[in-house]
Amino acid sequence: MGPRDSLSRPLKALRVSVTDRCNFRCPYCMPRENFGEGFRFLDRKEILSFEEILRLVRIFAGLGVEKVRLTGGEPLLRKDLPQLVARLKQVEGLREITLTTNGSLLTGLALPLKQAGLDRLTVSLDSMDPDRFRASTDATVGLDQVLDGLESASTAGFKGIKLNCVLRRGVNEADILPLAAFARDKGHTLRFIEFMDVGTRNGWCLESVVPAAEVAALIARQWPIQRFWKPGPNCVAQHWQYLDGAGELGLIASVTEPFCSGCDRARLSADGALYTCLFAAEGMDLKAFMRGGASDGDLAALLEARWKRRDDRYSELRSAQTAGLPRAEMFHLGG
Ligand code: GTP
Ligand code: 5AD
Ligand code: SF4
Ligand code: SF4
Repeated sequence: MGPRDSLSRPLKALRVSVTDRCNFRCPYCMPRENFGEGFRFLDRKEILSFEEILRLVRIFAGLGVEKVRLTGGEPLLRKDLPQLVARLKQVEGLREITLTTNGSLLTGLALPLKQAGLDRLTVSLDSMDPDRFRASTDATVGLDQVLDGLESASTAGFKGIKLNCVLRRGVNEADILPLAAFARDKGHTLRFIEFMDVGTRNGWCLESVVPAAEVAALIARQWPIQRFWKPGPNCVAQHWQYLDGAGELGLIASVTEPFCSGCDRARLSADGALYTCLFAAEGMDLKAFMRGGASDGDLAALLEARWKRRDDRYSELRSAQTAGLPRAEMFHLGG
């Protein structure tokens, strides 16, 4: 039996950020004003090596972690990522290795990732309109390249690909139905995410959130849907089903209906710090312990003690009191 935190939540999932860099500049995550030419990203030696990631993942697996999700920044910018996937597949106790990507580099990497044993794939896609896509990613990469990457992923044999769309009021509401139509046509599971106040530089306000209930109502007018199973307490998305048999839809209501009570996720930043919440200000510097000579037993004891103390439930507490609190940026701690 692995540890339980102070709210009795087990440790089951680990999100591993493999790089803090990204080739997109989504205004809600890495606005170019703040993350332009002059921004100092992590140096190579500050980033965990594959050996170090594998060592920590083995220790986490020993404490009960069953799912690893690779994130970033943009994880596909990390050199030789398929090799890391293949080695993670060998770790005892893990049930699945998944990846969240912006899709721009999938054309060349989908097949090697599939061959390495990657179990599932999630691609961020905020718009089906080339101009709004450009505005929502502030990247030189165009929508076509992401759509091409998605095709490559399907051809490589990935099933049940998920698409993540972060909705912002007045920015991409017009994309709700086109994205749904695209996902239905291709057999992908589309998930709409409520815009969150992660980090400190994305200009979040409650008025910019499009509530999941509103999205459900809008889609239901076009294609009838029903909520189809009560996911486990640890699941971030509400699952909905199209009544005409065109698959499913997810709504991630992180603001209007938070899901902290079942949160079994830990996050490992690219520079080796453990964060126990997406909204945490500081992590625990595991890299320093590791490079300082800590044994596996020392590290396991440290992680276990930290998890037992964990009391985070930021989204449930979100209010005037949490508005000005310091917190890490999302691209740093891996979405
Ligand atoms: P699976 O359930 O394994 O498919 O993965 P997932 O849904 O956890 O992964 P994904 O990276 O696609 O997460 C979807 C989005 O949900 C994230 O990008 C976040 O916006 C949000 N999210 C995921 N985990 C958390 C969390 O612990 N807290 C909050 N508030 N939001 C989260
Ligand atoms: N609110 C909600 N989701 C966000 N993401 C990035 N920033 C935010 C935010 N402020 C999403 C990305 C990607 C995932 C890793 O996190 O779009 O799908
Ligand atoms: Fe990059 Fe994803 Fe952040 Fe966009 S949301 S800037 S794609 S890490
Ligand atoms: Fe977990 Fe923190 Fe998100 Fe709540 S806000 S679900 S505790 S990561």
